[in-house]
Amino acid sequence: MIDADGYFGARVAEHYDDPSSHAFQADVIASTVDFLAELAGGGRALELAVGTGRIALPLAQRGVPVHGIELSRAMLARLRAKPGGEAIAVTIGDMAATTVDTKAQGPFPLVYLVYNTIMNLTTQEAQVACFRNAAEQLAPGGSFVVEVMIPELRKLPAGQNIVHFHTSPTKWAYTVYDVTTQAAPCHYITVTPDGRGEHREVPFRYVWPAELDLMAQLAGLRLRERWEGWTRKPFAQDSAQHVSVWEKPIS
Ligand SMILES: C[S@@+](CC[C@H](N)C(=O)[O-])C[C@H]1O[C@@H](n2cnc3c(N)ncnc32)[C@H](O)[C@@H]1O
Repeated sequence: MIDADGYFGARVAEHYDDPSSHAFQADVIASTVDFLAELAGGGRALELAVGTGRIALPLAQRGVPVHGIELSRAMLARLRAKPGGEAIAVTIGDMAATTVDTKAQGPFPLVYLVYNTIMNLTTQEAQVACFRNAAEQLAPGGSFVVEVMIPELRKLPAGQNIVHFHTSPTKWAYTVYDVTTQAAPCHYITVTPDGRGEHREVPFRYVWPAELDLMAQLAGLRLRERWEGWTRKPFAQDSAQHVSVWEKPIS
């Protein structure tokens, strides 16, 4: 299941762009792009884990030149096949370690990592390295934006460690929480059209807002804004996710 493309190989990439899923709704994409375009302030943006260009393509259409870093060639092939996909420069590599050559055009005023993808880095060390890598490629005064869910530990009754997040006649999906390591692998069980069952497990590491702030601090960044979502609803006790913006100080 895992190869050089990580957990987003050809089979996953083929079904990634799902127009019925929440992340692909026009209003979700529009509010994300509005938020990011404003922060780019007329400059360039770097998307860590750019995927199939769900956000990079409409952001580029808004006039923000986007450079991507991406591990999976299969996901990149999907981006390339879309109108405008050839125009997005992408560097293949691990977002925790890969840098883009900024000699000619200078560092980025905006680096962003959306759709819970910080959790695809499954150790604290890798998540810290990702913050350092983002900070290194940011211009002074620039913004690093992360969109990620709040860990769903409050949904766990005492003694249990599983949260279901999808149940239908042909698909079940659940997260198994380990509070000792912050591992939170997701399991997907699907009944195929010929009646067989398939199981797929994808590892994740959950991370709290305060821990992200500490990672930012280690990388020399400081929190500027935290919202519940892209429309700038205030972040609150019951928020299920957050969009956080850390800035690289000017001096
Ligand atoms: C949930 S998708 C998000 C794609 C895109 N950002 C979006 O919002 O639709 C996660 C992406 O992260 C990529 N990815 C996972 N781990 C990565 C890593 N360490 N470095 C670079 N890309 C990674 C996967 O290949 C996949 O394309």
